[in-house]
Amino acid sequence: MKPAIEQKIKSLREQTRKHDLLYYVQNKPEISDKQYDELFSQLKKLETEHPELITPDSPTQRVSEQPIEGFKQVTHAIPMLSIDNTYSAEELRAFDKKVAKILETKNYSYVVELKIDGLAMSLRYEKGLLVLGATRGDGEKGDDVTHNIKTIRAIPLSLDGNVPDVLEVRGEVYMPKKAFAKLNEEEEKQGESLFANPRNAAAGSLRQLDARITAKRNLSFFAYAMGKTSRKIAKTHCESLEKLKEYGLPVNSNITKAKDIEQVIEICNKWEKKRFELDYQIDGLVIKIDQLDHYEILGTTGRAPRWCMSYKFAAEQAKTKVLSIDVQVGKTGILTPVANFEPVLLAGTTVKRASLHNFDEIDRLDVRVGDTVIIEKAGEIIPQVVEVKKEFRKTGAKSFSPPAKCPQCGAKVEKDEDGVYIRCISSNCPAQFKEKLRYFAGRDQMDIENLGPAIIDQLVDKKIVGDFADLYSLDVKTLAELERMAEKSAQNVVDGIEKSRTQTLDRLIAALGIRHIGIQNAEILAQHFGSIDEIRKATAEELSHIDQIGPVLAKSIYEYFRDSNNLKIVDKLIAAGLNPQYTKSQQSDKLAGKTFVVTGTLANFSRSQIEQTIKENGGKLSSSVSKKTAYVLAGAEPGSKLDKAQQLGVKIINEEQFMKLIGK
Ligand code: IVH
Repeated sequence: MKPAIEQKIKSLREQTRKHDLLYYVQNKPEISDKQYDELFSQLKKLETEHPELITPDSPTQRVSEQPIEGFKQVTHAIPMLSIDNTYSAEELRAFDKKVAKILETKNYSYVVELKIDGLAMSLRYEKGLLVLGATRGDGEKGDDVTHNIKTIRAIPLSLDGNVPDVLEVRGEVYMPKKAFAKLNEEEEKQGESLFANPRNAAAGSLRQLDARITAKRNLSFFAYAMGKTSRKIAKTHCESLEKLKEYGLPVNSNITKAKDIEQVIEICNKWEKKRFELDYQIDGLVIKIDQLDHYEILGTTGRAPRWCMSYKFAAEQAKTKVLSIDVQVGKTGILTPVANFEPVLLAGTTVKRASLHNFDEIDRLDVRVGDTVIIEKAGEIIPQVVEVKKEFRKTGAKSFSPPAKCPQCGAKVEKDEDGVYIRCISSNCPAQFKEKLRYFAGRDQMDIENLGPAIIDQLVDKKIVGDFADLYSLDVKTLAELERMAEKSAQNVVDGIEKSRTQTLDRLIAALGIRHIGIQNAEILAQHFGSIDEIRKATAEELSHIDQIGPVLAKSIYEYFRDSNNLKIVDKLIAAGLNPQYTKSQQSDKLAGKTFVVTGTLANFSRSQIEQTIKENGGKLSSSVSKKTAYVLAGAEPGSKLDKAQQLGVKIINEEQFMKLIGK
């Protein structure tokens, strides 16, 4: 009985793998999605009945049901370098000249590849099995994202043929244009913010702790080079790509050999237009020397190899029409004009709006509602208006005049001291307050988990929260009555708010949103004064004498604490129990030399707080359990780290025991 089942399972795996290859790598599917799903569920069923027959490279093992708790850092066996850029034929010729000079020969040729606009990835196969997927990181060290990489069906979990024992493959994880459009459509429906481009979406997808989310993102992959290999597999770059293909890895089919730089330039020119026909985004071409034995002689310039060069396309432009100009109000009251366009496709995304930055910029461009404009993406990401086509302007189009009143609250507006920005000066403007509240709850400030923008909008619009301190009297019942909220999500918000009560003084100062006072300046103030009470008593002169606090900052702080509204808010916060006192960053060495790993949700600490507390007591927080881990601190619903701790015999403690360790 058993061998027959084993055979069946093996055959189902082989078939699934074959169709993955046909679909994701060769782009010529032979069966329908439904037929594929049937194969998959048959396999899944047999494996559920016979779990002992599951292998790590079975297609059923792609999506882990268990989220990881944090990203481990891994050191790349060979650093992942970047590529120098050229923008013209001239620069390409100069590159070629340099190559010929160093090699002292013209005996080399080129390979031109597409520069896929995604994320560099290093895949490590050991004995043909995928064991690691790591991001580029700083080039030396990246994040271990194996759990997410496995969900990408273009990436084989095991390789075919005579594969070296160790094979590192370098390539690009990318999101096809279609998958990107679908994802943004979903995000929009959910009221979430949109991804600016496929590259960001791919990056965001790989940053997920839960592989089930990544699996839904339809990422794909192209291999374009090798990292470390236990034996040489080729003499030329083209041969190595052929080998990677033979092993079952996806290699882009648009790879062209060029005998010299003039041919390279021809190929570059051809792609300048043709790039829009692709169903994934590219941002240029990569030109590589084909003969691998030249690589060592050419060496690197530090961050980029000399055997490789990229040719970047000029920023893509699009023509569209300005339908209207909105004015948004920021956290400090600054009014920002934003142009709404007739939707237009630009560099892979549909662009509907772009910031016009300020009213001087509107004047400079002389952009008017109804105008035909040329837009471009700054750094390939942020759309901007670069030109107004005045020849298409309708007679009578009026120039845009800055609002005389705040478009949100109707209060007076004033020009900034430098004359560029216009600001709503009301201290009661709800639009400003929403932005302030978002900032207050932000990750570098009070780090209030689960208090998202949609909740903030409702809390302000319904007048439930009128100042920061009101957050601290919110209850589950009130929150649960908001739109798209329920008991559980309301409880999560309350828990997030509760945890923020014990944030440190520097974070609280930063959260107040005093002009020019971000977290770094807040830290200086916290260190100098030790408490909010002391800061508010400080004179302008005293403030300006603090090292690194100049007169502009001093004035801003001084004035903030002379405004009766601000003082009321500060008093209310203190009354709500938020009155942190500054303590030197290392309070004790009770945890000196000890490495902690945290798993599950803690009742009294957010992630940033527990990390800080461990550090303050001389300890270290790590994301993975090893024999060197001194303690695993387990909260509610701990994850696999707990099992790992048990396996390794690492001491497991709860929050109460942790408090005892630090003498609290
Ligand atoms: S080769 C030494 N080939 O471009 C670098 N890179 O801007 C070897 N990229 O980090 C990389 N398509 O993520 C190479 N066909 C291609 C590529 C490619 C996209 C990315 C890669 C690299 C970045 C540099």
